[in-house]
Amino acid sequence: MSSVLVVGGTTGIGLEIARYYADAGHRVTLTGRDADRAAAAAKEVGGEVTGLALDLTVPRDIAPALAGIGAVDALVLAAIERDANTVTDYDIDRAIRLVTLKLVGYTEVVHALRSRIAPDGAIVLFGGLAKERPYPGSTTVSTVNGGVTGLLNTLVVELAPIRVNAIHPGIVGDSPYWRDRDLAPVVARTPCGQLARMADIVDAVAFLLGNRAVNGVSLNVDGGWLLG
Ligand SMILES: NC(=O)c1ccc[n+]([C@@H]2O[C@H](COP(=O)([O-])OP(=O)(O)OC[C@H]3O[C@@H](n4cnc5c(N)ncnc54)[C@H](OP(=O)(O)O)[C@@H]3O)[C@@H](O)[C@H]2O)c1
Repeated sequence: MSSVLVVGGTTGIGLEIARYYADAGHRVTLTGRDADRAAAAAKEVGGEVTGLALDLTVPRDIAPALAGIGAVDALVLAAIERDANTVTDYDIDRAIRLVTLKLVGYTEVVHALRSRIAPDGAIVLFGGLAKERPYPGSTTVSTVNGGVTGLLNTLVVELAPIRVNAIHPGIVGDSPYWRDRDLAPVVARTPCGQLARMADIVDAVAFLLGNRAVNGVSLNVDGGWLLG
């Protein structure tokens, strides 16, 4: 049994990843900002799953929050706090919050766990295709998801032989953020005629974490949307 840590695992895609590894018999820790919410999500998943509170927008508190975590074989960084922002009407505080969360927060989790990640362990960073195809209000989201590529590159080199990969989903149609919206125009632009589902993202994460030769890869999972 290996140890899997999913940062941003209380809802959405992170929760499905936690569920996948728990169902496969792994020891899983999932995190969110609130301890009770994280514990409730862990209980709902069942198996050997623990909930943990940490806030990626407060990077100096991350290491103490992770102090009780033992060895980690697989680390998934999936957290997001969406910032609807434009450069025309720029909200600096909101932008700083998301930039801190994804770029400094993700990095600090790796820094804090550095000595506890197994040499044959693997990390998956979540970006997203707003980096390639912005949508109204995606200014900060597009920026940080682009930044994930730079973070990926430096981590691959610095953490070797630990493998590090990134996943860039398109719109995940059944994820909580999108599931009640009209996504017909997006589907129409998607060559395979359907949007990625959370299960497709989990499958891709399992591939990135599990394949021993895949390292430094930025994997788009979007049904070909970027080409549509
Ligand atoms: N959904 C999509 O269509 C899509 C598309 C492209 C990329 N992505 C990427 O995929 C990842 C997962 O997306 P999702 O839609 O599944 O997300 P989600 O449902 O909004 O879940 C976000 C997770 O992040 C946690 N979180 C929020 N703020 C946090 C903070 N300040 N510190 C620590 N954790 C925090 C939340 O926990 P609490 O609320 O319990 O604190 C929750 O577990 C994200 O990185 C996102 O950018 C998603």
